[in-house]
Order: sequence, then structure tokens, then C-alpha cells
Amino acid sequence: MALLPIIHVPDDVLRQTAQPVQEVTAATRKLLDDMAETMYDAPGIGLAANQVGSLERVIVMDCGPDDSPELWRMINPEIIWESDETSTLEEGCLSIPGHNAEVVRPASVRARYIDIDGKPQEMEADGLLAACIQHEIDHLNGVLFIDHLSRLKKSMIWKKVLKSAR
Ligand code: NI
Repeated sequence: MALLPIIHVPDDVLRQTAQPVQEVTAATRKLLDDMAETMYDAPGIGLAANQVGSLERVIVMDCGPDDSPELWRMINPEIIWESDETSTLEEGCLSIPGHNAEVVRPASVRARYIDIDGKPQEMEADGLLAACIQHEIDHLNGVLFIDHLSRLKKSMIWKKVLKSAR
């Protein structure tokens, strides 16, 4: 496995749409393993391919407690159901270091994805895992958590981002 460099805003790859994986190969599995290692090293609880400069539709997540890791490696993940009920959680992003904000999202979701053996799977999530999977799938669509904030809050964060990127 290898650590991958994490790409930060305002890099354009974070605004691009990742493309579906046609076939799960050894290269796909290596990308997912490298992304998992990179996520744990950061440390973070989720990482999408765009964040390491790849436009494959893959994500990794681990929202488990420290003493009981629960690694998710998902290929072509998509939300197939979301609750009307919402929840508000503080989010951050490895690509926007130093900035956190409360984001409102559906509280529970059901998702479909392909696992590392190429098999279709479904999962349900609520709490932190639900927010995390929505955040990571957003990345695959070129969307960042700051896009869910009010225009004022977003522009405050964005100004600081651009200032520190100079
Ligand atoms: Ni993120």
C-alpha cells in the first residue's frame, strides 16, 4: 500500500465528476487500499477518489470507534433512498483543512454500491455514517460540504481558503 497526496481546494479536480468503474480490477482494489491507508494516516473518516486526483467513482469510509474499525470500500456508490427527516452534524474535509461547519442532510439513507469483489451490495446508514457517505458521494459529483452552507458562510470560508492558497 502507499500513501497518496491529498488534494486541497481550490484544485479543479475537486469540482470534476468521477466516472463509473466499468470493471473491478487489481488496480481498483489497489486504489481503494491506498485511499484507506491515506485516510487512516490523515487521519480522517472518509475519502473520495477526486481527493487523491483520481476520477474513478470510488470512496472509502470508517466512522467506527477507534477500538473497532469499520472500513467501507465502495465502488460506484449511489444513494437510492433518503429520509425526509434531517440531521445537522459538524463536518470537515481533508481537502479543506482547518474549516468545519454544521451541515443539514437527510438523517438516514440507503445506498447501492459494488464491493471489492465486484458484487452489488446495499447498505443502510444513519448518524455519522449517513452524513459521511453523502459527503463522499458529493465529492464524486464535484460537490463540497461548503456548497450546502448559506451563501454568506460559504463565502467566508472560501475567502480564507483562497487567502491561504496564495
Ligand atoms: Ni471531504
